[in-house]
Amino acid sequence: MIVAGNWKLNKNPDETRAFFSSLVEKLDALSGVTLAFFPPAVDIAAAKESLKGAPIYLGGQNCFYENEGAFTGETSPKTLFDMGCTHCLVGHSERRQIFNESDEWIAKKIKACQDAGLTPVLCIGETLEQRESGQTKEVALGQLQKGLELVDWKKPLWVAYEPVWAIGTGKVATPGQAEEVHADIRRFLDEKLGQEDSQVVPILYGGSVKPGNAAELGSQAHIDGFLVGGASLKVESIIGIAQA
Ligand code: PGA
Repeated sequence: MIVAGNWKLNKNPDETRAFFSSLVEKLDALSGVTLAFFPPAVDIAAAKESLKGAPIYLGGQNCFYENEGAFTGETSPKTLFDMGCTHCLVGHSERRQIFNESDEWIAKKIKACQDAGLTPVLCIGETLEQRESGQTKEVALGQLQKGLELVDWKKPLWVAYEPVWAIGTGKVATPGQAEEVHADIRRFLDEKLGQEDSQVVPILYGGSVKPGNAAELGSQAHIDGFLVGGASLKVESIIGIAQA
C-alpha cells in the first residue's frame, strides 16, 4: 500500500523539518506501507535534510518540461532529481483548472520527468458536472491516454485517480465509485503493458481521504494506495491512514 501526501501550498521549511522529524520517529509503526511526500518545491531541501535517509520518497508537486533556460518561475525536473526527489506529480486537477495546464503540456512533463530519472504521478479525474452527465470514464481515460502520449512504458510511472468533486470537499468517492474507475484504468494499463507488467504501475485514489475512510477504500481490488491532501499535513492523520 502506498500513502502519498500532497501538501499543496502549505508549510515553510521550519514546519517541514518539524513534521519529518516527528514522522521519522514513528516509522516503526508503519511497516509495509510505502510513504511519499510532495512538499512545495521551496521546502524540498529542508525535507531531505530532516528525513536523514529514512525510507520515504520525496517528490515535486509540479515541474516544467524543460530542464533549464529562460522560463521564469518554473521548476526543473532535473533539479528536483538532483535535490533528492524520486517522484513528481503531473497534471493535478488544481494545475489543470487554476493554471490552465493542457493535456499536451502534461504529456511533455511526463516525458521530461522520466528523462530526468523521476517517476511521474499522472493525476486524472472528472468534475462533478462531467460525472453527473455520465462522462466519468470518457474523461478519466481520455486524460490518461493524452497524458501518456509520450510516456516511456519501460520506465516507472504512477497514476492517481482524483475526482475533482472529492478534492478538498470532504465528499469522498464511495469505494464502489472509486473501484469502478480504478478497474477501467487498470484495463487501460493492461492493454498497453500486458497484465503482468501493468501491475508495477500503482493506481492511487485521491480526494478527501481520511483515517476514517481509508480502510474501506483501501480494501478495493484495484486501489493500490492514496494521494492525500489536507490529511497529509498532520503526522497523526497520515499515520492513521497508513495504519488503516
Ligand atoms: P484532499 O486533496 O485529500 O485534501 O481532498 C487530495 C489531492 O488534491 O491530492
